[in-house]
Amino acid sequence: MTSTTAPACRVCGASLREFLDLGRQPLSDAFLTPDADPSEEFFFHLAVGHCTGCTMVQLMEEVPREKMFREDYPYHSSGSSVMRAHFTATARGLLDRELTGEDPFLVELGCNDGVMLDTVRQAGVRHLGVDPSAGVGDVARAKGVRVRTAFFEEATAREIAAEDGRADVVYAANTLCHIPYLDSVFRGLDAVLAPGGVFVFEDPYLGDIVERTSYDQIYDEHFYLFTARSVAALAERFGFELVDVERLPVHGGEVRYTLARAGARTPAPAVAALLAEEAERGLAEPETLDAFATRVARSREDLLALLTRLRDEGRTVVAYGATAKSATVANYCGIGPDLVSFVCDTTPAKQGRLTPGAHLPVRPATAFAEPHPDYALLFAWNHAEEIMAKEPAFTASGGHWITYVPEVRVL
Ligand code: SAM
Ligand code: TMP
Ligand code: ZN
Repeated sequence: MTSTTAPACRVCGASLREFLDLGRQPLSDAFLTPDADPSEEFFFHLAVGHCTGCTMVQLMEEVPREKMFREDYPYHSSGSSVMRAHFTATARGLLDRELTGEDPFLVELGCNDGVMLDTVRQAGVRHLGVDPSAGVGDVARAKGVRVRTAFFEEATAREIAAEDGRADVVYAANTLCHIPYLDSVFRGLDAVLAPGGVFVFEDPYLGDIVERTSYDQIYDEHFYLFTARSVAALAERFGFELVDVERLPVHGGEVRYTLARAGARTPAPAVAALLAEEAERGLAEPETLDAFATRVARSREDLLALLTRLRDEGRTVVAYGATAKSATVANYCGIGPDLVSFVCDTTPAKQGRLTPGAHLPVRPATAFAEPHPDYALLFAWNHAEEIMAKEPAFTASGGHWITYVPEVRVL
């Protein structure tokens, strides 16, 4: 007799309740070379559930980490001037507030191309970036940043503690939510953090995702969608405590969480305030998540209706920004080259390739003006201000931007 077991929460083991099914999806960052064999493309089932125990929102299926974070991982954090400024300010804040003792030491998980650590390096502060994607790590090394090419987990943390000593700060941006094996990560944090040290991390916030129907924040790499409530429970489970939270405008809405060892610091009032706001909104309640899923389905209908109408009217439509997020939208909605001719993107590693699953050609940003299309679908809606500021000629020539966050709209 065979039986299928429903997936259990990766944090606490309680049962998961699925609330959103985004269908068959590719690896969001696996851009195909034009001669690649499409039959070899990897797909998985993208569905999201919430834990009936600790409330953590997470994917129902886990993609093997080696498939996502490889030598040729194409995402380079320094591609956005807004994000460069954000990480310079972040580094300065950590230097001023946490790294003031004698010979301080900072470890960053997912340091990517060194966008944050370069400022720490320039300040002469001891640091180590940990990132499994060798290509982006090499870019960081070329800046003089120290990088270990590895997945952060318990074993890596123990090696770092033995070689470099304990860290005053462990920092991670847009990385912790990528790591299903948080039990190993937290045992590692316990090994590598100094007794009074802090773990600071920032990731897309479920509160913003639900509020803006930004379902494209859900893809293979984003295994968890955190809330203050689920993070507080996670921290407590592993002997830590949520001592501060800060909402951030970047990437469509994130929260920066600060964790310390339980009892080591007095939690800031912002923690209780955000927990109360989440309770008031019923953020972890099944009804709230089901209503979100209904809005997601509606968003797909609206976007397909708009793009189909524009095609039937003979308008030219291209997309702007071959974001990982856009893989979810293109594959869930079925947006192929018949609806969007190509995507322009400044990342050399994506250009000349096809987007995962939907197979939209990726062309350099210069292709946008050769000539300007009638409509441009903002796949990188989280960088809208920056992109619109550098493409004034598009609207001046009569072009229109299309967004789908918080709803499908021609701007
Ligand atoms: N921190 C940068 C930022 O915010 O722009 C990079 C974010 S990027 C979306 C995620 C990074 O996490 C990738 O460079 C990936 O290789 C790295 N990563 C994935 N799993 C990791 C792990 N277990 N330990 C450390 N880094 C990891
Ligand atoms: P992200 O939303 O994950 O940061 O990805 C942004 C993508 O959009 C990345 O592939 C770079 C691209 N991009 C442009 O092509 N032009 C731009 O001006 C910006 C800010 C991003
Ligand atoms: Zn749980």
